[in-house]
Amino acid sequence: MTAQAYVALSPETMADRLGALPVLVDRVGPPQSWQVREVGDGNLNLVFIVKGSAGQAIVKQALPYVRLVGESWPLPLKRSFFEYNALIRQAARDPGSVPDVWHFDEAQAIVVMEFLTPHVILRHALVEGRQVSGLGERLGKFCARTLFRGSDLSMKPAERKADLAMFAGNVELCDITENLVFSDPYFDAEMNRHTPGLEGIVARLRADLSLKVAAQHLKMAFTSRAETMLHGDLHTGSVMVTDTETKVIDPEFATYGPIGFDVGMLLANFLMAHLSQPGHEKGPGDRAGQQDWLLSVVTTIWENFVTEFSHLWRTERRGILYQASLYENQGHGLASEQALNDLLGQIWRDTLGFCGVEMHRRILGLAHNADFERIADEGRRAACEARALAMGRQLMLGAGVIPSITTVTDMARRMDKENHL
Ligand SMILES: Nc1ncnc2c1ncn2[C@@H]1O[C@H](COP(=O)(O)OP(=O)(O)OP(=O)(O)O)[C@@H](O)[C@H]1O
Ligand SMILES: [Mg+2]
Repeated sequence: MTAQAYVALSPETMADRLGALPVLVDRVGPPQSWQVREVGDGNLNLVFIVKGSAGQAIVKQALPYVRLVGESWPLPLKRSFFEYNALIRQAARDPGSVPDVWHFDEAQAIVVMEFLTPHVILRHALVEGRQVSGLGERLGKFCARTLFRGSDLSMKPAERKADLAMFAGNVELCDITENLVFSDPYFDAEMNRHTPGLEGIVARLRADLSLKVAAQHLKMAFTSRAETMLHGDLHTGSVMVTDTETKVIDPEFATYGPIGFDVGMLLANFLMAHLSQPGHEKGPGDRAGQQDWLLSVVTTIWENFVTEFSHLWRTERRGILYQASLYENQGHGLASEQALNDLLGQIWRDTLGFCGVEMHRRILGLAHNADFERIADEGRRAACEARALAMGRQLMLGAGVIPSITTVTDMARRMDKENHL
């Protein structure tokens, strides 16, 4: 075996394998002082916490298969390369939004990065009923900055085309999205599962021909509209928080796609968190405050996205699209504002559609979320999930006519009171 051949790490081999890395010795301390522990809550990769006399680090290594499933589901090591490349771009486009990357080893598929502490996964905090100040502002700005600055609105054409070509290589992770998000929920696919009690609404959704058409229109948008570099898996399990700080992790699904994809996925996860809250009540109504807050985050994310995107449009539009030379420089600033409004309208409609499919796939597909899964009583869980399924359908079919984020939050409040089983 050459020095380059890939070998999976383990806590026992960590000091031998990475103990000579200057950045780790510097930040964590001499390898003799290291204590290594596998985090163990990821589905796809190995993630270790390395703790030493000087500090801590995260060592994330891709496996040649899906960790949760095993060798029967191969998945290329190259996802680590895309994760690394997405992380450094997100750090440049929205400084402070992601953990600092300290080292990357392509052959070993290892990313060494800052250990976020005392951060926890946002989804777990939401299930527990915790709130995070500044969350919606941070996430709205993250979306606007990374999505604007990864597009032809901002980048130099040669750089953007090179990135487009590079991220097009993330074939296998895109394939997961293409199948698991856009197709599997809408038929009886092999890897699907759902909570008992949902059979009626599941049958109705799968018989809804307009919905199937809408899902495939969205899939076509995802595969063909390479507008910007997406995070690709922007849900509340990809966000780590303290009470006051928000960081985004795990962009291994990064690819070029429609701007509304990340925003829609993110909003879907907050709407599902909202609709799952009654399942976590200890007494009647004791999650009402949390529900209100979750919907306020939905509004804040969208509003901050629009405000920041508009700000970047007015101040940083240096790419090949909608050039100032055509508008502002001709005294046609109004046309630029009209173009911005049109574009935001398109992003809004996309966002609603992607939001809807994400709500379906998390309940009907392979990858479920803790918001619902942690509701032990299946009857209560099914009641909450049915509302999310119904809302997902309304968002997908109504994407062209839903006028505002208030309409969406009003819809969530109404759904929360209805029975869709
Ligand atoms: N920089 C970090 N600081 C602290 N903890 C982290 C960091 N990165 C990852 N973790 C922890 O490791 C867990 C798994 O990380 P991550 O989500 O990146 O792995 P994954 O294998 O890609 O998982 P999945 O794709 O299933 O979400 C996270 O849920 C979090 O608890
Ligand atoms: Mg991941």
